[in-house]
Amino acid sequence: MSLPIRPTCILLICVITLLTGGPGCSARYEDNWKSLDARPLPEWYDEAKIGIFVHWGVFSVPGFGRFSEWFWCWWRQNRTEEVEFMKKNYPPGFKYADFAPQFHAEFFNPDNWADIFKASGARYVVFTSKHHEGFTNWPSPVSWNWNSMDVGPHRDLVGELSAAIRKRSLRLGIYHSLFEWFHPLFLSDEASGFKTQEFVARKALPELVDLVKSYKPDLIWSDGDWKAPDTYWNSTQFLAWLYNDSPVKDVVVTNDRWGKGCYCKHGGYYNCADRYTPGKLPTHKWEKCQAVDSLSWGYRRNMKLSQVMTLPSIIKDMVYVVALGGNYLLNIGPMSDGMIAPVFEERLRGLGAWLKINGEAIYASKPWRVQTENSTVTVWYTAKNNTVYAIFFGWPPKQPLQLTTPRTSGTTQVTLMDYPNVPLKWAPTTPTSGLMILMPPMPESPANAWCLKLEGVV
Ligand SMILES: *[C@@H]1O[C@H](CO)[C@@H](O)[C@H](O)[C@H]1NC(C)=O
Ligand SMILES: *[C@@H]1O[C@H](CO)[C@@H](O)[C@H](O)[C@H]1NC(C)=O
Ligand SMILES: *[C@@H]1O[C@H](CO)[C@@H](O)[C@H](O)[C@H]1NC(C)=O
Ligand SMILES: *[C@@H]1O[C@H](CO)[C@@H](O)[C@H](O)[C@H]1NC(C)=O
Repeated sequence: MSLPIRPTCILLICVITLLTGGPGCSARYEDNWKSLDARPLPEWYDEAKIGIFVHWGVFSVPGFGRFSEWFWCWWRQNRTEEVEFMKKNYPPGFKYADFAPQFHAEFFNPDNWADIFKASGARYVVFTSKHHEGFTNWPSPVSWNWNSMDVGPHRDLVGELSAAIRKRSLRLGIYHSLFEWFHPLFLSDEASGFKTQEFVARKALPELVDLVKSYKPDLIWSDGDWKAPDTYWNSTQFLAWLYNDSPVKDVVVTNDRWGKGCYCKHGGYYNCADRYTPGKLPTHKWEKCQAVDSLSWGYRRNMKLSQVMTLPSIIKDMVYVVALGGNYLLNIGPMSDGMIAPVFEERLRGLGAWLKINGEAIYASKPWRVQTENSTVTVWYTAKNNTVYAIFFGWPPKQPLQLTTPRTSGTTQVTLMDYPNVPLKWAPTTPTSGLMILMPPMPESPANAWCLKLEGVV
């Protein structure tokens, strides 16, 4: 999908990485943060801007409560909702592991999922290969009887989904939790103060390497790192292998959750905390993950419509993220039977419909010199190839629409993305800055967001 990089660009990248303490282009990455952090992020990631996050696992079977993917942990910690739910609905002695055979995935059709993701306008998909519960959605050779081939679906969910999304030229991201709440090896390592590394040697690292070799992901979304330092996880050793010798060394992108104290500091792009919402332009590439169900990443059967993000709120959030140089990773949790709730599908298709008209302002865009202003309406700016895009929410209540920041020139042309070939009438507000635009009549739109294309402005 991305354009071939010209040799001069490669040379420039090499010189830059050398000058900033990196390895240049001939050298290999070393297993320390200084070397690994200097790796340039593969370009496809910044250009993609939008991904779909998918949380699916045994937790989707109870499918209950706030942050349902943590069900097992809440229950073990005696959170009232989960304890009551289990008392009311399951016989005494029912264990979490007993949910796994009920993970049937009987309606799971990876092509249907991938069609929906493609229609959302996303360019990558990040799928939970294994959440903190430890159940692997692929036939891991070191997760005996706790994987989707041996129990439940009896299918390689990661493999099937990978093939379907790649068929549609979407990039494959793999979510992987380093720790597992109740894995005996992890618990004994923890009891040793993380002096022993049995869990890392026999579970975490073998699985990461297996995922990379089996599915060749374009992105690894690491999580579950916070209990132990990166030196316990051997994160730098893994990343050095990933960047130097793995089958995805040139394309793979990673995030920043590689050990206690790592996030927002080390790795590829930064996720920082969940739903990271910086107030101003960050200096490092970042991603905001956000769930359509505001109260959970995993599916909740007791979800209410009022708790689901509206299409305008999704688009507003996405635009804000992109204007500040981030990527937007929008999450949905499928049901245990493999269906995507129609309300999620509707939101994703709505996002895609908006992007079909306005995507030029989003994909491969860069932050502009000013990211936002309040004029007649709140505006977020993006920029690409000397074109500036002004995105606003809610149709302006009065004419003309005023923009304060752009400086016009003799060649300035203004169009609304909905009507690409109809130049709008405009006039400078003052001789040096700002412009007033006469807006055309517009019908209501479900997204409640529009984009002006400003050519020939600075
Ligand atoms: C949860 O409650 C059970 C039964 O009362 C008790 O045995 C257990 O220690 C509690 N667990 C936690 C983490 O508080
Ligand atoms: C972690 O890396 C260190 C240093 O290279 C090595 O000695 C150790 O064996 C590795 N541990 C695992 C579990 O791979
Ligand atoms: C624009 O207005 C909103 C809402 O009042 C406010 O939160 C935001 O900070 C303002 N933005 C700027 C750039 O002044
Ligand atoms: C924008 O510029 C890039 C390179 O700088 C070029 O490849 C691309 O075709 C341009 N896009 C448009 C729409 O002009």
